[in-house]
Amino acid sequence: HESELSADAVERGEYRHYMQKEIFEQPRAVADTLEGRIGQHGVLPNIFGIDADPVLDRTKQIHIVACGTSYHAGMVAKYWIEELARLPVVVEVASEYRYRDVVVPEDTLFVAVSQSGETADTLAAMRESRRRGYLATFAICNVPESSVVRESDLRLMTRAGPEIGVASTKAFTTQLAAFALLALDLGRRRGLDHTRYLKLCKELQSLPRFIESALRIEPQIEELAEHFILKHNALFLGRGVQYPVALEGSLKLKEISYIHAEAYPAGELKHGPLALVDEDMPIVAVAPNGPLLDKLKSNLQEVRARGGELFVFADEHAEMDDTIEQGVMVRLESGGEFISPAVFTIPLQLLSYHVAVMRGTDVDQPRNLAKSVTVE
Ligand code: G6P
Repeated sequence: HESELSADAVERGEYRHYMQKEIFEQPRAVADTLEGRIGQHGVLPNIFGIDADPVLDRTKQIHIVACGTSYHAGMVAKYWIEELARLPVVVEVASEYRYRDVVVPEDTLFVAVSQSGETADTLAAMRESRRRGYLATFAICNVPESSVVRESDLRLMTRAGPEIGVASTKAFTTQLAAFALLALDLGRRRGLDHTRYLKLCKELQSLPRFIESALRIEPQIEELAEHFILKHNALFLGRGVQYPVALEGSLKLKEISYIHAEAYPAGELKHGPLALVDEDMPIVAVAPNGPLLDKLKSNLQEVRARGGELFVFADEHAEMDDTIEQGVMVRLESGGEFISPAVFTIPLQLLSYHVAVMRGTDVDQPRNLAKSVTVE
């Protein structure tokens, strides 16, 4: 329809696709999600609802349930919450959770994560959780009037604005921002060292700026994307909190470019996927900033030794050795270990976007996929 098409073009502005527009909206979307919720002295009071304090003080463990990209945000949150608040966290895809005989220890908080707030499995899991005796249900969601929000006890809205592209981008980074607020708040309640707490709060507030800086390497990513056009497979590797980032990167690539992509925790490489590595298998690695960097390097040397083509995303200061430098290195300002998963997500989104554009797929409406899966 002609008038619809032009309205569409107006909406997209200077961008070729909604997905690209939404990738570039991330500094704003994340800043909006943090706005009025965190300040100089830390996470502001009552941001999870006025009834949240007694619940969050009592919480002894957390179950996070979601689908797709939202599930990957939950996986990042597990690393954060366990480290900062020392609370055990279980993360599960909603379609498994809802049919499993889950053990719910006393004082467990149920967390549903959903961009749309209407995903059938996530909603059903949340309804099921009501019967399972949780302390309370908490929603992280982008649509205020959605079922997930209406039916939850506590909530933190992401403020990504409408997301049109089927492949989720700004919803993911704003979910990470929301989870970072929750992890910090739980940390503060549970004895996280105050100096460290304030330092991490400051780091979180700098996230929009580092996303902005990661977006500036788009031209470099576009060049790199050419290496993938004719590939049939790709392997994504990460360790620690970067493992879910690798999962999300591989999901983006398969969703919109139709290249078979898998993500592995790099330490699992020799337990199977190494058998697949040859000249035709590009390997995308997300390098951690912390003590796991050396471990990752030795995993990458194994890949190199088998002729695998390496693409490594690393912090600008990370020391990488010669063997790895023979591959393609993409350096970025990761902004600190805490926020780095959100920052490293950006080049992976851009990579899958440009590979898909070069392969001529329907980027915003990939075949067989829906933006919101409201039936089981
Ligand atoms: C669909 C979308 C994904 C999304 C998932 C969960 O599969 O294509 O992009 O991550 O649903 O959606 P939700 O709205 O619950 O986050």
